[in-house]
Parts: sequence; structure tokens; C-alpha cells
Amino acid sequence: MTNALSSVSAEIGVIGGSGFYSFLDDIEEVRVDTPFGEPSDTIAVGEVHGRRVAFVPRHGRDHRYPPHRIPYRANLWALRSLGVRQVLAPSAVGSLTTTHGPGTLAIPDQLVDRTTGRVQTYYDENAAIHVSFADPYCPAGRRVALDAARTAGWRPVDGGTLAVIEGPRFSTRAESRWYAAQGWTLVGMTGHPEAVLARELALCYTPLCLVTDLDAGIEEGAGVTMDEVFRVFGANIERLRTLMTDVVKALPSQRECFCPHVLDGMKLPLELP
Ligand code: ADE
Repeated sequence: MTNALSSVSAEIGVIGGSGFYSFLDDIEEVRVDTPFGEPSDTIAVGEVHGRRVAFVPRHGRDHRYPPHRIPYRANLWALRSLGVRQVLAPSAVGSLTTTHGPGTLAIPDQLVDRTTGRVQTYYDENAAIHVSFADPYCPAGRRVALDAARTAGWRPVDGGTLAVIEGPRFSTRAESRWYAAQGWTLVGMTGHPEAVLARELALCYTPLCLVTDLDAGIEEGAGVTMDEVFRVFGANIERLRTLMTDVVKALPSQRECFCPHVLDGMKLPLELP
């Protein structure tokens, strides 16, 4: 175990389920503390295709953090302090349309915040900082993820809107039907405030959403269960892990998207790591 910010560094971060560890080679576990507390767990830093990658298990290794209690600010701050500038965010989501069934990979281009009680900023005092969030995800990361997925034989969904609910419960049928009626296509519990916090640190952030179920209002039946979500995610994890390595390999080493510039000219109340 390496403590704090010694010589360990990485350029790409992955925030995902614990099933993703094995895609890293030569792993070193790093404990990172931040002004926002400790991340979900120690961070595994290793190599993939010669790129340095830091992995944070979003819910903690023992799945101790439910979606509304994940230390989102600490996770992203810790990644940035290790040198990470591009973040990949695989997650399990429900589908709000029958055209995207379980096993579908979607790379949404929009997000709707339906959470209620989560801190969603680093800039909470001593300044009013308003980041642009019209396009919440990195356009370059999205393109790389879609290309890599197509090359690997997925038929990824390009775009769509991810509604992020507070959880930890799943939606009622009425909520679910209402989300679908708005034209939103996916529903999850962890995509916010993760994406906006990445934006507030000028990081590139790319969601890779694996559909595990049709949400409650989309299909008559028992409704979504945790068992179903874990089973479908588990059945696809190997493929998704391989895809992550392909995406890591193909990410640009120089960022030419707008993400690095979103804080240009702003007088931040705290120094970024
Ligand atoms: N994660 C996986 N499936 C989900 C669903 N139907 N609603 C919210 N989060 C989910």
C-alpha cells in the first residue's frame, strides 16, 4: 500500500464496479486523502496498453456506499490529484424504452438530475462559480467509446438522456412512465453529481451505460429487482472490461475538446490539485 500522493500517477481514471479491477496490470494500491474526505476506497493504479490508469470502486470494494452516500467529491478530487484528466464511468442503468433492452450499451449525451439530497459542487463558499453544463459529457471521450464499442462488435446507442434518481429505491411505475414520456431514455442512480463534479475540475468525463433492465413503467411485470441488475451486469462484465481496455488505448493523449478550458478566466476559491 502506498500512502497519499507519493510518486504514483495516472492519466486516465475509471470509476466503476469492483468487477473491473482485473483489467489493470502491475497494480499499486494508493490511499489518497482529500479536503472532501476519503474516496470510496483505496485507488488501484496500474497500466493498460502502456497507459497509466487509476481505478476507483465507486461503491467501495465491499459495496458499502449506496448511490446517495458515495463520496463523489473525494473520488474525483483524488483522481485529479493523481494526475488524471480523463475519466471513464461505466455503470448499470435501467432502460426507459423497449428499443434498448438488457445488455445494450448506451453512451448518453444528456443528463437530467432527479436527485434530491446530494452535494453537487466544490465551490460552496467564498465565490460564485457557475460552470457550463449544457453538454455534460466529453465529446471526444464519447466518440472514442462509441468507435471502440462498434469495433468490438457492440451495437452501442449513440446519445439519449440519462435521468439520475436519488435512490436507493427503484422508481415506481408512474415515475418511470413519466420519465419515459419526457423523452428520457435511461435511468440510473450514480451519474450525478459525478459528471458535474468532473466538469468542475475541468476533467473529461465519459459515461458507459450498460442496460440491465427495462424500468418498471416500461414493462408489465414484477418491476426491477436488485438481483436482476446484478445478474445482467455480471453476465456482461467480461465484455465491458475488454471494452474499457480498448477505450483506454484509444483515448487521446492530448486533450483537444473543450473540457480543459471550462474554468478558464474564473477566479476559483480553492486551488485544484
Ligand atoms: N440501475 C440499474 N437499473 C436501474 C433502474 N431501473 N433504475 C435506477 N437505477 C438502475
